[in-house]
Order: sequence, then structure tokens, then C-alpha cells
Amino acid sequence: MAIIQETKRDLLSLSDVTPDEIQRLFSRAATLKRAVKARKVTHTLKGRTLGMIFEKPSSRTRVSFEVGMFQLGGHALFLSSKEIQLGRGEDISDSAKVFSRYLDGLMIRTFAHKNVETMAKCASIPVINGLSDDFHPCQVLTDIFTYQEKRGSLRGRKVAWIGDGNNMAHSWIMAVSKVGCQLSLACPAGYDPDPKVIEKAHKDIAIQGEGSIQLTKDPKEAAHGADLVITDTWTSMGQEAERERRLRAFEGFCVDSAMMKLAQEDALFMHCLPAHRGEEVTSEVMDGHQSVIWDEAENRLHVQKAILEWLLV
Ligand code: CP
Ligand code: NVA
Repeated sequence: MAIIQETKRDLLSLSDVTPDEIQRLFSRAATLKRAVKARKVTHTLKGRTLGMIFEKPSSRTRVSFEVGMFQLGGHALFLSSKEIQLGRGEDISDSAKVFSRYLDGLMIRTFAHKNVETMAKCASIPVINGLSDDFHPCQVLTDIFTYQEKRGSLRGRKVAWIGDGNNMAHSWIMAVSKVGCQLSLACPAGYDPDPKVIEKAHKDIAIQGEGSIQLTKDPKEAAHGADLVITDTWTSMGQEAERERRLRAFEGFCVDSAMMKLAQEDALFMHCLPAHRGEEVTSEVMDGHQSVIWDEAENRLHVQKAILEWLLV
């Protein structure tokens, strides 16, 4: 059964979904995944069109959303910001109004999170954040789904984030109150997550009554006893000019086999990809028995199909 939605909803960050909705999405994603494996056709979005605006490059997000729409019987339009008027300075609000007249949903990958918020505010159709400088909700929902698929609930489990306090770290911070995990983040000095995001997450944790966030400068402390170890690139899209400085600042933060040994024996390793082998993670860990990165990448397709049904049906 598809999840029926009566009014416009958006997915800009994990704040837009309740714990209950997340589990319903996962249940639907699992069903959709089984259907694909059995080559069963599920055309719940027949005749629907998704616009996909990209202001940054993408492999996984672009392909999984496009394939997802196709598999659901709909259509996806790839809109590079360089080739639409948005890239020549047309207002986001004007673009949102125009696109709303043609499309059933919009996915946007951009720089400032404000752009995603403006798009959502001015569009009469659902807007999905396909990554902003602040958040990457579709990826973290997929990471949680992947963990649950392999190991069950994250409630009470220790999740170690080792690396930059970036958009992925922020989305994991927002996920804590939704899944009740104990998140330990090890970020070098000067690369901590945004305190406003942590403050918001602490309020959500107090309301929800479960989960915790710990900040440390010691990656070993974060990895110790972890059930899930996660990292991401040290230089996110748009930060290329800082690469050399970042390489120096993140010394000692590489997830290698010695780091994984500090975690639980059955701990999993995740990375949203693209990875820089030998920088934030060694090839030994990426290709090792604890790594679930390929399933994690595949699951973007299944989780996003559930999100698309939820928002666009
Ligand atoms: N993980 C992720 O969003 O990958 P892309 O940048 O390739 O879309
Ligand atoms: N933090 C990375 C994630 C890429 C999927 C970036 O923003 O470039």
C-alpha cells in the first residue's frame, strides 16, 4: 500500500519527518525493493513528473531519482542550473512558481540551504532536498534504512561520525531524536558541526525522550564500542579551494582497520560516496567485510522511491 498524502509536504531536512513516518517509509522502501528484485512493475506515479535541479555535480542522487521515477511509471527531468534561467539569475521564487505549473515535484541540489527553503516556500508542489551545504536528508534516511536492514533498530546503538561537521554530519545529528541512537562525533578543531543544528537536535531529543549527542576531538574515542562507523569526504563540494588546509587539519581522522578494531566486532562501516580512498578511509576498510557502502548506495533508489510516492501520489 502506498502512503497517501493529502496536502503538500516537503523534505528539506529530517525535521520534516516524524519517527513514525520514517518507519512507514522504510517499510514501503523494503516492499519496493522486493518488487524490483522480483521484476514486478509498480506504476504508482504513472503520469507524474519530477524536476531535478542540480547546482552541484552528482552521480548517485541524479541516477537514483531518475531511475526511481521511471520505475514508478513517472518521468524525471534533469535540469542543470547552467542550462536553465536559474543559472542566469532568475529568482528562485519565480522559478519555483513556474516549475509548479508543469511538474508534480521538485528535487534540488544546491549550495545555501536557504535556496531549498525559498524553493519550498514559493512552490505549490513538494520539494525534496537532494543536498545543500547544510543537510543531505535522503542520504541519511538511506543510511538508517541500510543499518536497520542489516542489524535492526538503531535505538540505543552507538553511531560514530568521524570527520567533517558537514551536511552529512548535520543530517545525522537531526536523525538522533528520530531513531534514538547515541551519536558520537569526532571532528577536528574548527570543523565542528553548526552549534545551531546541535541546539535544535537537543530540543528534539528532549521532546522525544531518547538519543544523545557527544562531541569529541578524538576519533578513537568516537569509534570505541561503536555499532556503526561513518565518514565522508574532508572537502565537500564548493570547498575545493580549502583542500590543502583541510588535508592537514584532518590528519589522524582516517578510518582505517585499526580504527575499526576499536568498534564492536559486528560494527558496520558506511560512507555516502564519493570517497577519497586513502584520505578519509582506507581501501582496506572500504572493501572490507564490515563495509556496506554498495548496499547503502543501492538503497538510495529504494528509499527515494518511497519518498517520491509519499510526496507525489
Ligand atoms: N551520496 C551522494 O549524494 O552522491 P552523489 O553526489 O553522487 O549524488
Ligand atoms: N559532504 C559531501 C557529500 C557528497 C554526497 C558534499 O557535500 O560534497
